[in-house]
Amino acid sequence: MEKYNIKDCVPSDVIQLYNIQEGTNYTKKIIEDMIVNDRMIFLKAVINKKIIGYVSLEILIDEGEIHSVMVIDEYKNQGIAKELIKTAMNRVNLKKIFLEVNENNTKAINLYKGLGFMPISKRQKYYGDQDAIIMEITLLL
Ligand SMILES: CC(C)(COP(=O)(O)OP(=O)(O)OC[C@H]1O[C@@H](n2cnc3c(N)ncnc32)[C@H](O)[C@@H]1OP(=O)(O)O)[C@@H](O)C(=O)NCCC(=O)NCCS
Repeated sequence: MEKYNIKDCVPSDVIQLYNIQEGTNYTKKIIEDMIVNDRMIFLKAVINKKIIGYVSLEILIDEGEIHSVMVIDEYKNQGIAKELIKTAMNRVNLKKIFLEVNENNTKAINLYKGLGFMPISKRQKYYGDQDAIIMEITLLL
C-alpha cells in the first residue's frame, strides 16, 4: 500500500470531505464548523493531497464521542480506520469515549470492538427502522 499520513483537517478540505462522506449527511457548513471547533479532533488520512478517510471526535470535558469515521472504498480493509481512531484517541487524555453505530453496520461494530469498545445499550429506531448500538471504551479510571 502507498504510504498515507494522518493530519488535522483544515478549512480547505471541506469540499473533499463533503464529497467522500459515507454514512452521514453533513452539509459543507457542518463540516466547516467541525473543522474550526476547538472541541473537535477532526483528522484525515491523506495520500499526496487526496483525502482517503477521516475521523471526527468531539471532546466533552473528560469524555469523547466519535461522530464519524470513514475510509473510501479503494482503501478499505487495510487498517486505516483503526489507525485514524487510535490517533484521535491518543491526542487527549479522555476517561471514556462513546459512539453510536447502526446495529446492521457489522463492519464498523467489529472495528470498534477491535479497538476495545464494548456495547453498553441500544437506542431504539435511532436510524429509521434500525436501532443504534451505543458503545463505550474506558481509558482512565
Ligand atoms: C467502517 C469503516 C470506517 C472501516 O474502515 P476500514 O479502514 O476498512 O477499517 P479497518 O481496515 O481499519 O478495519 C478494522 C477492523 O474492522 C473489521 N473488519 C475489517 N473488514 C471487515 C469485514 N469485511 N467484515 C467485518 N469486519 C471487518 C476488523 O475487525 C478489522 O480489524 P482487523 O483488520 O485488525 O482484524 C469503513 O468501512 C467505512 O468507511 N464505512 C462507511 C462509513 C461508516 O459506516 N462509518 C462508521 C459509522 S459512522
